[in-house]
Amino acid sequence: MSAPSIELSVDNVGAEQPTAPVSDQGRTLRPGAFGNATNLACRECGYQVALGPHYACSECFGPLEVSYDFPAVTREEIAAGPPNIWRYKALLPVPDDIEQSPNMEPGFTRLLEARNLAAELGMTKLWVKDDSTNPTNSFKDRVVACALSAATEFGAKVFACPSTGNLANAVAAAGARAGIKTVVFIPSNLEKPKQVNSAVYTDSLVAVNGNYDDVNKLASEIAGEQEGWAFVNVNVRPFYAEGSKTLGYEIAEQLGWRLPDQIVIPVASGSQLTKVDKAFQELIALGLVEDKPYKVFGAQATGCSPVSVAYKAGVDAIRPVKPDTIAKSLAIGNPADGIYVLDVCRRTGGAIEDISDDEVREGILLLARNEGIFTETAGGTTVGVLKKLVETGQLDRTAETVVINTGMGLKTLDAVADSVGARATIEPSYDAFVATGI
Ligand SMILES: Cc1ncc(COP(=O)(O)O)c(C=O)c1O
Ligand SMILES: [Zn+2]
Repeated sequence: MSAPSIELSVDNVGAEQPTAPVSDQGRTLRPGAFGNATNLACRECGYQVALGPHYACSECFGPLEVSYDFPAVTREEIAAGPPNIWRYKALLPVPDDIEQSPNMEPGFTRLLEARNLAAELGMTKLWVKDDSTNPTNSFKDRVVACALSAATEFGAKVFACPSTGNLANAVAAAGARAGIKTVVFIPSNLEKPKQVNSAVYTDSLVAVNGNYDDVNKLASEIAGEQEGWAFVNVNVRPFYAEGSKTLGYEIAEQLGWRLPDQIVIPVASGSQLTKVDKAFQELIALGLVEDKPYKVFGAQATGCSPVSVAYKAGVDAIRPVKPDTIAKSLAIGNPADGIYVLDVCRRTGGAIEDISDDEVREGILLLARNEGIFTETAGGTTVGVLKKLVETGQLDRTAETVVINTGMGLKTLDAVADSVGARATIEPSYDAFVATGI
């Protein structure tokens, strides 16, 4: 049996030399290609392999994760960095000269105190981490920037992904800017704006008749067959996933270098949630924030809630589902990191909750009308779940809470198009206006 690998130009050099990034296929990684990252380690059995385009353990098929040997990092050094994710480059698997390569420079998005929404929900202190302002309007620009760096270092010829929409937008744009060919795969029933938001950047958008899990399976097959294709969330997934840590770093820095008491995060594959937790743990270990308890909460839409179902049933196994929800960006029926989401939420004393599509729409309007932020269905899910967690007493309404808005409402206009609109359509006269009663 051999573990899934890809035909990029660097091969596994084995567990004996975890820090020696050399190739037996003719390509040698340049020194410092992955910054302070030292090796990949299996999340399940701890087996270590050298840094390379690998994503599954050769011993047990468990997922591989980037390990580091961090130097001392100070708040001042970070603050002196650029206003994007590269201010944290010492904590990411990227080279020191990452800012020189053409990339989207995502991150350092605003953390807004949400006083109106807090009052509406009966909460004391609430912030919205608004990632809708990233270059392609979702948090995916963060992960893609890290994946692009890895793909470039591995000498990939094609930059690709299976996607529920936002990832395809981010990959297509980042590839255009970097001058690398992109091919992005999406379910064919995806919202039109998300399709257009990819197709403007790439001539190789592939719509697949199937759901995300079908698209993902196809991508794995292509990755195994085609040489030089870097699928950001398949064969360079360990590097890609690290990008989500920057959400955690930024939240801590923007709170004045401290951790919130509670954080609510949407869950599709579950990668983002586990990486925000990893970021908090790293900041504690590096002495950049005080060690204190925090609770992590996951948000799903009921029409695709395999992780929430497992959480509520108190079991570890996640039973895959066929998604049926308007929250298409979260519609992953077989989430790769679902079991680790369960671990994080249980370990920290958080929870995972799910809400109906009507509550998702309500969540979108709640954020828009109270804070002037137009989120997509993923954010509607997260805000709606926040509301439910407060109402059910699972979340402490007096504790400091951050909710992450991961995407932009203009990409899922149809979700609320029938719920809002002109209050009145009138002739251009003062009398007509008065007659509206506004
Ligand atoms: C807007 C948005 N939020 C959240 C997620 C969930 O991310 P993850 O797969 O890391 O759980 C996605 C995934 O596609 C997304 O597009
Ligand atoms: Zn293993």
